[in-house]
Amino acid sequence: MNVGIDLIHFSTSDYYLGLDAFAEEKNIDVDKFYIGIGQEKMSIAPPDEDVVSLAAKAAAPILEQIDKNSITAILFATESGVDQSKSAGVFLHGLLNLSSRCRVIEFKHACYSGAAALQMATTMVRANPKEKVLVIAADIAKYDVDTSGEATQGCGAVAMLVTESPRIIAIEPGSGYHTEDVMDFWRPNQRKTALVDGKYSTKVYLHSLKQAWQHFTEETGRTFDDIQHFCYHIPFTKMAEKAHQTLAKVAKVKLSPQEFKAQTLPSQVYNRIVGNSYSASLFVGFCSLLDNLNENMANRRVSFFSYGSGCVAEFFTGLMQPGYEKVLMSASHRKQIEQRQPLTYAEYLAFYHEVDDEVENIEFERHNKGPYRLAGIKDHKRYYQTL
Ligand code: COA
Repeated sequence: MNVGIDLIHFSTSDYYLGLDAFAEEKNIDVDKFYIGIGQEKMSIAPPDEDVVSLAAKAAAPILEQIDKNSITAILFATESGVDQSKSAGVFLHGLLNLSSRCRVIEFKHACYSGAAALQMATTMVRANPKEKVLVIAADIAKYDVDTSGEATQGCGAVAMLVTESPRIIAIEPGSGYHTEDVMDFWRPNQRKTALVDGKYSTKVYLHSLKQAWQHFTEETGRTFDDIQHFCYHIPFTKMAEKAHQTLAKVAKVKLSPQEFKAQTLPSQVYNRIVGNSYSASLFVGFCSLLDNLNENMANRRVSFFSYGSGCVAEFFTGLMQPGYEKVLMSASHRKQIEQRQPLTYAEYLAFYHEVDDEVENIEFERHNKGPYRLAGIKDHKRYYQTL
């Protein structure tokens, strides 16, 4: 039985900060960002946008195409959750008016949780083909102002419907994984922003890739040449480039510059202008590949490398399904990205500091253009609005 992603749709916020404006403000050569880390823009969430509103924006177009009462579970992956107890997925469940015959749970392990949720969903469907699981990966990447991480913020959500006989990609059984207790990136409970040992995190990322790849080859017997397209977790696109160089070296494969570009660039187009979206970023990369490769990918194998600091990593693959191109929502992705409004550095800072969801009662000023927004907090309870 084939199990995998039947529909996929991604969302991002209505605003961005250009790294040109950022570089000017900080008096840094913009090429450090454009070339050095490979980023141009960061999607910025206004105070009335959170992972629930982003997730709803990502999921709604999928639900319009199916009987939404057929969803049997929501697996919501995030490391920027909105409540220490209640799952962000239950807020989403209410906002999208889903059936009460549906289970909901939140997944967390840094940027790895999206891949974990996808793998769990495929396992659920293999055990019972009647399951239709909505996997959401949604995050707002936020670092302290004036730290090296500040240039690698961003936000986004990816919704994936996981079913049997999927129309987009069948996820193949067998994967390679690696876990190690390290402190490269973390966010203690009392903090809104992540702490990161940036250079160390890039080293652990590459070490985990080697370990997960080794395990993957032992488990599946597949080689580098069995894979046509490579998607990586993309905190910034240069990281994906370094990952692919590392993988080719470990697999003892020599790639021409053209081959290297063809295998990696299409999956970076969106991430370069959206920024990091933690658990979603690997799947934003997959959407980018689907929307930006001008070739038919039917029957080709795509690999996914997920890395979550702390750290857990996994390498797995999927086979593109014939006719996948008919169900893509590329126009919606492009429209969202193109319609974003640029912010000045001062406007970005105002958004950055205005977020105050620790207060008991607040009504947020309307910046989020919808279709869903965080309207306010009343007696410590978040409430959302459909526009
Ligand atoms: N033109 C071209 N390249 C330039 C440049 C310029 N003017 N100035 C700097 N660079 C290059 C550097 O040589 C470096 O390249 P390298 O990584 O190949 O050595 C790169 O730009 C980054 O410069 P660096 O001085 O190392 O940047 P930094 O101290 O600001 O740190 C990160 C970069 C990624 C570590 C930092 O942004 C960070 O902490 N990000 C968050 C953590 C993260 O995303 N981790 C990834 C694993 S999940």
